[in-house]
Amino acid sequence: MGSRALSPIRHGAAVVGIVIAALLHRDGAIAESAAPARPASGASVHADLWPEIPHSLKNPETERFVDQLLGELTLEEKIGQMIQADIASLSPEDLRRYRLGSVLAGGGSAPGDDVRSTPQAWLDLTDVYYRAALSASHLHAPPIPIVFGIDAVHGNAKLIGATIFPHNVGLGAAHDAELIMRIGRATAEEVAAAGIDWTFAPTVAVARDVRWGRSYESYSESPELVAQYAAAMVTGLQGARDSPEFMAPGHTLASVKHFLGDGGTRGGRDQGVTAISEADLASIHAAGYAAAIKAGAMIVMASYNSWNGVKMHANHYLLTDILKGRLGFDGFVVGDWNAHEQIPGCTKYRCPAAIVAGVDMLMAPDSWRELYKNTLAEVRSGEIPRSRIDDAVRRILRVKALAGVFTRPPPKDRPDAAGLARLGSPAHRAIAREAVRKSLVLLKNDGAVLPLDPHSRILVAGEGADSIAMQCGGWTVDWQGDHNTNGDFPGGTSIYEGIRAAAAAAGGSAVLSRDGRFAEKPDAAIVVFGEHPYAEFQGDRENLQFADDAHELELLRRLRAEGVATVAVFLSGRPLWVNPYINAADAFVAAWLPGSEGEGVADVLVQPRGAPPHHDFTGRLAFSWPMTAMPVVLEPAGQATGAAFARGFGLDYRSATRAAALPEDPRIPAEWAAPRGSLFQHGHPTAPWSLFVADEGAEVHVTTSLQASPHRAVEISLGSEGARATWAGSEEGLVTLSGRARDLSSSAGDHEALSVRYRVEERPGAAVMLGMRCVVDACAAAGGAARDVTRVLQAARPNEWRTLTVPLACYRAAGADLSGVVAPFALSTAGRLRLVVADVALVRASADAKCP
Ligand code: BGC
Ligand code: BGC
Repeated sequence: MGSRALSPIRHGAAVVGIVIAALLHRDGAIAESAAPARPASGASVHADLWPEIPHSLKNPETERFVDQLLGELTLEEKIGQMIQADIASLSPEDLRRYRLGSVLAGGGSAPGDDVRSTPQAWLDLTDVYYRAALSASHLHAPPIPIVFGIDAVHGNAKLIGATIFPHNVGLGAAHDAELIMRIGRATAEEVAAAGIDWTFAPTVAVARDVRWGRSYESYSESPELVAQYAAAMVTGLQGARDSPEFMAPGHTLASVKHFLGDGGTRGGRDQGVTAISEADLASIHAAGYAAAIKAGAMIVMASYNSWNGVKMHANHYLLTDILKGRLGFDGFVVGDWNAHEQIPGCTKYRCPAAIVAGVDMLMAPDSWRELYKNTLAEVRSGEIPRSRIDDAVRRILRVKALAGVFTRPPPKDRPDAAGLARLGSPAHRAIAREAVRKSLVLLKNDGAVLPLDPHSRILVAGEGADSIAMQCGGWTVDWQGDHNTNGDFPGGTSIYEGIRAAAAAAGGSAVLSRDGRFAEKPDAAIVVFGEHPYAEFQGDRENLQFADDAHELELLRRLRAEGVATVAVFLSGRPLWVNPYINAADAFVAAWLPGSEGEGVADVLVQPRGAPPHHDFTGRLAFSWPMTAMPVVLEPAGQATGAAFARGFGLDYRSATRAAALPEDPRIPAEWAAPRGSLFQHGHPTAPWSLFVADEGAEVHVTTSLQASPHRAVEISLGSEGARATWAGSEEGLVTLSGRARDLSSSAGDHEALSVRYRVEERPGAAVMLGMRCVVDACAAAGGAARDVTRVLQAARPNEWRTLTVPLACYRAAGADLSGVVAPFALSTAGRLRLVVADVALVRASADAKCP
């Protein structure tokens, strides 16, 4: 569920919002504003830090074509080129009318709003949009085709039946750039088959704190490996630069993301605060960009994060002076999903600052219509210089020309579309299976339990044993990938299926038993377990302790006590603290998020004894594996402190080792503990919960220490005391703590309560409601999920810390259906109010707790 689905207030029309720059504001602001901020523009370039890249996309013929076309465009057409809308909010008819430059299908968007649509439905969809763009009335020839974009970040994984490759975290362990190139090429064929022109990949983030939920999109903590892979992936997707295959049929536009510093945020918070030196930014986080640009990357996506107090979408120095200046990038910069709305002074409906800073195409999924009108007005008024518009459009047209979109037929008539059959083809699946084999990292193999003899009796157990969904993780079929079943992966195989096939081929047997119970004692057990799928921000964590119900830990211990050889196969988007599991198993394999080809695991784990193994473990860690539940500390120069297994580590069948027991104390400092039920503490939302502010304008994710809602009805400032929320009294403003939908209906029966520790600084001027938001508006619709807390807050003495406890039963009694709660905390008022919230948690209610 995206922020759209969470959005509690209907989006109204665009309103002019004047916001005072975050930096000039208020004492409560935390350290990013205190860090030495580089000027956002006009700064002199630190040339010594940034490599000059000998390359140019320009050629005389293309430039002539682009210049001529540009000269014929109306201002409206130019602005249209600069805007990308999502299929969920833009009809082909809209496209005909507004002549936008690009269309995307976001994580949750699909033909007919059904993420389980057929590949043919995708091809029909891209074809309809393509034809709509061309049938619009143009004053010039040729008309300008759209480019259609999608997140094909591990194969064209939104399409049912596609080949799903391991996520980048696993590919890093393969240390094989040639393989990456072949994966890029296969992915491009599956993207192009559906008439899609552009993938929002590769992610070249260098994740430095794997509490970040997007760590699995990062190849490595090492900039060198990321740089190597960035070039290989771009070459695979687009075809080799300066060769006839470049953007030939069966290829797709790549985009490198997210520029810059996405993997360097404090605490690994998604979209957060990157407060590091320019030297580290350049040498660590920019490594992939120079390499990708050299390989012919034509699109760079700007990042949500800030660098030293300035959001990247507003960062003229990095987008324009460095990327387009020093690095000589002459393709275009695309914005991220409404990311411009987080810039002080902007809303998702208007943001001259992003365009002026250097964003050429704004991703405005649902906000495109107002953004189009407002941008047009801002150019006419002179707020945005026309020269900037011409520069942006020239870049977009250049990329379109170089990509061949002006000469390409509609999707259904393209030669590569005849290849919908190539989707999930045996050749592509073979590459994915090879990638799975090469990504596995063996951390322990006591007594040489592995490889398992295929003639033996093998038990395959654990939650992940037969779950292709867990193998694939996020950005699969839909955004978070958390609703998938094996039926969503025709042609794919689970790890169990792979092991069963390998054993059967040799005359042995493998039995599936998710809970590990068996009738006949097995010789060995493979226990597959790990993280449940997640994507952006919902995957962030306070610490690295692998949190589950410990069922598989008990299972490993029980099996071993019964004399069964145990092999743990761990599915995860990052290294996590699993010392007790490593200790409990005879062998431990980090399998990352291997994708749809589970057989690749069996290829390495199950092999005849005696003969030299056909496939040995060749994967080596591309991320340090932590000794405690706190992230490994990485120095810019490469040294790491706190690793149980260093980057580069990995056993194989030739290593004879006996592992020493690892310490079983996670050593989590109080500040990073995540007590069950905690929603907000220590001055920030408890990951994976997120804080949002909303008013009649829209809902905005709070990712810096200061964020106002679009109409400024409410503003949040985060400090060490907590979150100070200030309501202006102008219209209804709402603060929520939101996340993935949870079923709290039984908690209500179990006497749980929402507990809020707060201090009132200005008493309420109108009614204040404390409520919950649900997936279906079942809780709100009944009027049951909000309690009037006005009197409680009015009674508070100024600046006195108090705790408000609302038993969940109060909501239920009032008729609320708490089976799908996305925001367990939602505080709103239309009047004035100021308070500081220090802690929010779901706790056990005391017997005498009353409803407010
Ligand atoms: C979209 C994703 C997007 C996310 C951002 C989702 O609804 O489908 O593509 O990345 O929202 O919040
Ligand atoms: C993500 C991008 C993604 C885009 C479109 C954003 O929320 O940050 O990585 O490409 O959505 O889905």
